[in-house]
Amino acid sequence: KINSSDGSLERIILKGQNKSSVEIYLYGATVTSWKSGGRERLFLSSQAKLDGSKAIRGGIPLVFPQFGPGELPQHGFARTRKWEFLDAFEHGESMVAQFRLTENEETLASKWPYKFILNYTVDLTATTLSTIIKYENTDTREFSFTSLMHTYFRVPDISSTVVRGLEGSLYANKITGADNVAEDRENVMIAENEDRVYINVPDTVSIKYGKEQVSVRRFNFEDVVLWNPWAEKAAEMSDFGDNEFKNMICVEPGTVSNRISLRPGQVISCGQLLAVNDVLA
Ligand code: BG6
Repeated sequence: KINSSDGSLERIILKGQNKSSVEIYLYGATVTSWKSGGRERLFLSSQAKLDGSKAIRGGIPLVFPQFGPGELPQHGFARTRKWEFLDAFEHGESMVAQFRLTENEETLASKWPYKFILNYTVDLTATTLSTIIKYENTDTREFSFTSLMHTYFRVPDISSTVVRGLEGSLYANKITGADNVAEDRENVMIAENEDRVYINVPDTVSIKYGKEQVSVRRFNFEDVVLWNPWAEKAAEMSDFGDNEFKNMICVEPGTVSNRISLRPGQVISCGQLLAVNDVLA
């Protein structure tokens, strides 16, 4: 259902079984809430701008066609464009919503001047959320891009949050500039400003906090970015509360260390499947 009667930005809310729900703003096609078993699983900053003036700080912003800084604005244009809502429907155990983004005059005049279609599918079940983008080259030229799902997870306490599945992978440390560092920890914990791009990561990593665990499975995305701004970086961000770094961790599936290339007419689907496995008391 679309909610825009009060003048706020349009969004879609899907409700599923066992108190599951997902909310998606058409602005950026940004998922801003995912509940499973009645509990919120994603972090959305209390300072997030929800009026279309800035990319939404939290949830699942979509990064395309450029990860990080570069010729385009930081993280590209997809997260600050209004996407078209195509459809919402029930499919087996799932509630599904679909969105679309294509080029416009502005993107054709940008440093990434190609014709494309992104079809975005958000699929909710009682215990999972999957978000998948089908990228299609509708141009007459080959193009390449980087892309990522900038997933912000809500955690009760970062000091007891563990990320598993990264052991044996290599990472680039964007804070120190060190490259190709081997991750030797089974349980990765964060205790300072961290910004890392992990490569060669197994298909599934998981985030464990207390009695809960959320697994993050990737489809056709090569890398995982791990990010927490900690106190000093948080203070520099106007749309991030000073102490909120304690309650979030970004585990971001994407292809950012290499570029994805598509020839005219070529298509690729990439995405993530988030699944809640609560450890019962
Ligand atoms: C992460 C990047 O994915 O996004 C960080 O690795 C960046 O370098 C962070 O700071 C947030 O970016 P933004 O543009 O949303 O502030």
